[in-house]
Amino acid sequence: MNFASDNIVGASAPVLEALVKANGGALAAYGGDDITKRVKARFSEIFERDVSVFFVTTGTAANALALASAVPPWGLGVCHREAHVIDDECGAPEFFMHGAKLVGLPGVAAKLDPQALAAYLKGLPRAVKQMPPKALSISQATECGTIYQQDEIAALGRVCREHGLALHMDGARFANALVSLGCTPAEMTWKQGVDILSFGATKNGCLMAEAIVVFNETLTEGLDYRCKRAGQIISKGRLIAAQFEGYLANDHWYDNARYANRLARKLAEGLGRLPGVRLAWSVDANEVFPILPQAVDQALRAAGVQYHPWTALSLAPNETVGADEALVRLVVSFSTEEAHIDRVVEIARSAISQRAAE
Ligand SMILES: Cc1ncc(COP(=O)(O)O)c(C=O)c1O
Repeated sequence: MNFASDNIVGASAPVLEALVKANGGALAAYGGDDITKRVKARFSEIFERDVSVFFVTTGTAANALALASAVPPWGLGVCHREAHVIDDECGAPEFFMHGAKLVGLPGVAAKLDPQALAAYLKGLPRAVKQMPPKALSISQATECGTIYQQDEIAALGRVCREHGLALHMDGARFANALVSLGCTPAEMTWKQGVDILSFGATKNGCLMAEAIVVFNETLTEGLDYRCKRAGQIISKGRLIAAQFEGYLANDHWYDNARYANRLARKLAEGLGRLPGVRLAWSVDANEVFPILPQAVDQALRAAGVQYHPWTALSLAPNETVGADEALVRLVVSFSTEEAHIDRVVEIARSAISQRAAE
């Protein structure tokens, strides 16, 4: 039973079928093929306006290249201090920004507060010694499994515009956030001021397919060259496009995300009902962060359940993890078996009953 992440599973059947269909015959390389053209046009349909789309193979590449298009080498990128871009990408954004830095701000549940952001930006010295802030990156869903509501994105977008920052969204779990909000892709992005998006699809059903979606045309300048220099102009581009074709057809991406979110809620409800267990943050998408008694953590691990411990950095001020407790992350994917959810809750329940009986 593996809840370590949503990328521990393979690709979903419609994606694989689309790949097989796209596989035969000779087609133009490097994205010059008709499948790529068709899928890029499909992105404009999905976002209800013209968008520029650049396919890449990892979320790290999408984030690093998107941020590099917004932040010059002397600039500053702002994000949450737990953001994937600052914590989990080995400096790739800074590498592709050619010397620019990222700064991580605190915020409960890995979310940034517009007022705190505005105060931070106002407090920066206006001097040549200070790298000027040029972009804000937010994760949707966040690293704590929470999501920004539309008005929260809009409020951050306004602060960005007032201070001359571009707004980047890391949408590694874009579909999970979208179905949770129940709004359209447009409403979750450019309508709230998002300039550039890392559109993730790998975690939710593709083999390796991510897209940089640009709403603010000024950010497309040189982006194709940046992609090429990062080794992200893919020679058999049709096979990346085909993954998106299978993923986006017949609402498959929505179905996958709805399934994962539903099971995550089920897991959260099952664990949250047990005495001594509480949830660190609301379960808005497909990730569950319970604070477990150590005995439960040990019982789950002994039964072979895999998941990661998590940092308490972004807990609410009135919450702490006790010495006899563990804060952990369980991630549910589009292909997690429902029986595994029941099993995890059952193991936790019996560990708690056993401890009570001792
Ligand atoms: C919030 C977030 N952003 C981006 C990524 C993409 O990372 P990768 O380069 O592994 O595809 C991940 C994957 O774990 C993530 O959780």
